[in-house]
Amino acid sequence: MENIEDIKQTFLRSLENATGKELEDIGLLYMGRKGKLLELTKALPLLPVGERPKAGKELNELKAFIKTALREKKEQTKGDGPREHDLTVPGKKVRRGHRHPLTLITEEMTNIFSSLNFSVVEGPEVETEHYNFNALNMPENHPARDLWDTFWLQSSKAKNLKLKTENLLLRTHNSPMQVRFMETHEPPLRIVVPGRSFRYEASDATHEIQFYQLEGLFVDRKVSVAHFKGVMELFFKKLFKDEFGGLRLRPSYFPFVEPGFEVDFYWKSKEKWLEIMGAGMVHPKVFEAAGFAPGEWQGFAFGLGIDRVAMLKYKIPDIRLFYSGDLRVIKQF
Ligand code: DAH
Repeated sequence: MENIEDIKQTFLRSLENATGKELEDIGLLYMGRKGKLLELTKALPLLPVGERPKAGKELNELKAFIKTALREKKEQTKGDGPREHDLTVPGKKVRRGHRHPLTLITEEMTNIFSSLNFSVVEGPEVETEHYNFNALNMPENHPARDLWDTFWLQSSKAKNLKLKTENLLLRTHNSPMQVRFMETHEPPLRIVVPGRSFRYEASDATHEIQFYQLEGLFVDRKVSVAHFKGVMELFFKKLFKDEFGGLRLRPSYFPFVEPGFEVDFYWKSKEKWLEIMGAGMVHPKVFEAAGFAPGEWQGFAFGLGIDRVAMLKYKIPDIRLFYSGDLRVIKQF
């Protein structure tokens, strides 16, 4: 009786790749009239009286186990066996991984900018107060900081953090990369910066605490709003094709540009102007923060909401769907 466990293991091993007829044979081998289990049952009376009840119980359990395992295996392998080689049976559909809609749209957008000679660069999601605010013409206590509800990081206050020279935060926009890039590169410059930003605010159909932006920066000796409009029109024509019906600039305020504007584009089939990004001519203070000589360079900058573009292009009504992990949404891409 000691080998009941052995029998069970041997049985399980033989079951592994068995199908159809093999399963029948295994059934006979264990449960048949000359099967192993019957043999053991017959041997029960040979045991000392005291051991019989326990052994009988174990034997019954093994019987039940083998019966269920065989039945389940038969269910599972139904239709396997010889039919495996029936070439007319349709193949099983393999579920493949694929890219997320936000990844797809980001690639499409950065590809267009690459074709216009922009470089694609990325920056840190954990940013310093300096790059997120100060260097963008928002010194401490500047009221415009309130335009961005900020996640400040607790750890930045920890005294023993060697790295700490100032407060850390989750970047509220991708604009900090403007200054980071200008500090380490000589103009003329053309970059786009795709990546995630964070805002400490309630989420709804059009707002999330995390979302994606595409920041752009173009710096040269003589740059005007006309250059900006020309580049963006080209970009949107390529992205939205026939849906694109033109760009409109409205005056607006961002501390890091002067003049600054909101940009709308005309969505033909909806016959509507839709707000798509903030932009403007790079503020002299930003060039100064990057260490550029005053008056020597001009540039335009813009910040596009990637989620917003994806929602328009793929007709997705709620930004939260991108982050819900709901496969019914994601599988469509
Ligand atoms: N950083 C701004 C935001 O997230 C968007 C923006 C506006 C970026 C104007 C720019 C700009 O580069 O010039 O709200």
